[in-house]
Amino acid sequence: MPSRFGRAVLAALVTAGASTVAVAEPITAAAPSTAYTEILPAPVSAGAERGGFTIDRHTTITAGPGAQGVADYLAGILRHSTGQPLPIVRPSRGGNTISLITGGSNAPSESYRLDVSGRGVTLTAGRANGLFAGVQTLRQIVNGHVIPAGHVADAPRFAYRGAMLDVARHFFTMAQVERYIDQLVQYKINTLHLHLADDQGWRLMINSWPRLATYGGSTAVDGDPGGYYTQAQYRAIIQYAASRYVTVIPEIDMPGHVNAALASYAELNCDGVAPPLYTGTDVGFSSLCVHKDVTYTFLDDVIGELAALTPGAYLHIGGDEAHATSQADYIAFMNRVQGIVAAHGKRVQAWHQIAAATPLAGTVAQYWGTTNDSPAGASGVVLSPANLAYLDMKYNGSTPLGQDWAALIEVRDAYGWDPGTYLPGAPSSAIRGVEAPLWTETLRTSADLEYMAFPRLPAIAELGWSPASTHNWDAFELRLAAQAPRWRAEGINFYPSPQIPWR
Ligand code: ACM
Repeated sequence: MPSRFGRAVLAALVTAGASTVAVAEPITAAAPSTAYTEILPAPVSAGAERGGFTIDRHTTITAGPGAQGVADYLAGILRHSTGQPLPIVRPSRGGNTISLITGGSNAPSESYRLDVSGRGVTLTAGRANGLFAGVQTLRQIVNGHVIPAGHVADAPRFAYRGAMLDVARHFFTMAQVERYIDQLVQYKINTLHLHLADDQGWRLMINSWPRLATYGGSTAVDGDPGGYYTQAQYRAIIQYAASRYVTVIPEIDMPGHVNAALASYAELNCDGVAPPLYTGTDVGFSSLCVHKDVTYTFLDDVIGELAALTPGAYLHIGGDEAHATSQADYIAFMNRVQGIVAAHGKRVQAWHQIAAATPLAGTVAQYWGTTNDSPAGASGVVLSPANLAYLDMKYNGSTPLGQDWAALIEVRDAYGWDPGTYLPGAPSSAIRGVEAPLWTETLRTSADLEYMAFPRLPAIAELGWSPASTHNWDAFELRLAAQAPRWRAEGINFYPSPQIPWR
């Protein structure tokens, strides 16, 4: 505890984990202490002081080296909400400024410190991604033109906090994906896993195999309209994500979940006959032809184009539910494809079944089971237990959207586990973080996505970001309740869980 934080921080730390604190009052300038206890995900430490900083027509934003992008982003948000000009200027000695400072590269990635007094606001981080995280905190505590005085010191528990969007079962446009990114980053999610191909649709133009997109992308579940991203559109999504410090991990699922590819190119089939396009919701019936050379030519082309388009270190190669591939073929296939990914300079992420093969050094297994069985052999594990973290599961028996094969997941279930101790066989150091997948067999619109993601996505985000010591349902339900006015203002279609004392 840095002593210069003083008693206010100490009090906030004590209250952060307590269940008895009454914080369910409206956020007003007169009651600033509530805002600092309502930051979601809960920060490492936070405390309010008396007073606040008022944004007026003379207020500036100052951006030090490396801070310009975040300054532009913050200015856009605050100009919109306050109507003030908020010019971005070089650092100077004057007051009445919101100062963004990077430096001290020893600071852990994404860590930040926020200090608000009546004279100004200082946001300090080792790197721009920390400033960006701090800006998300600032957005939660600002109240009209007033930023209540106080301090926050913060850093993530896990480096990987992900969300997956299935754009294969139903297609979602660039604008819809970008809307989702903007919702995710408010809860400090830093990775977007895009499930780009499945039995029902192939969603990215591959120039060397164009029918994947033009034919294989023409369908969706229930015969709904298909679609695909041109390479320029995919790049634009990645760039949009990067401007918000989100890394995209694209997934091409294999050797199963490939009917759209098999339908597009007859030669990819063992019998040389293309199956029809598929718009149902069965899983596990399709497989690439593991013994044909053309399969690996195809994959080298696809993975090569995907690697060239994707700045992030990881490509996701699926590997789940390969029920139409023998186990011996599966192992040989996954090992060979890992080599192809490596040859294109990327690392592999895959669903945890890859542990049955020989994961390369650096391969990350994404656990999606429900029984705590540990995926041995991978260098790292991302946790997406289907009965806790799957956003497409229904909340209860009468939820109109979603599925229920893994569980019914109310908010308290989604929040009620510890990623650090979830897998008994895996040391906490092997856990890279958490991811909340959103499968879209039953979801067609942004409103559908939001209904399933909110409020469970913020729960998973908090498990990924916040210290285990802050993990407390009674405090969390109040933090979550305080988000609802923001969601209404942003037009987010959330599920009003009866477990939460909504504002
Ligand atoms: C999965 O849900 N098949 C990863």
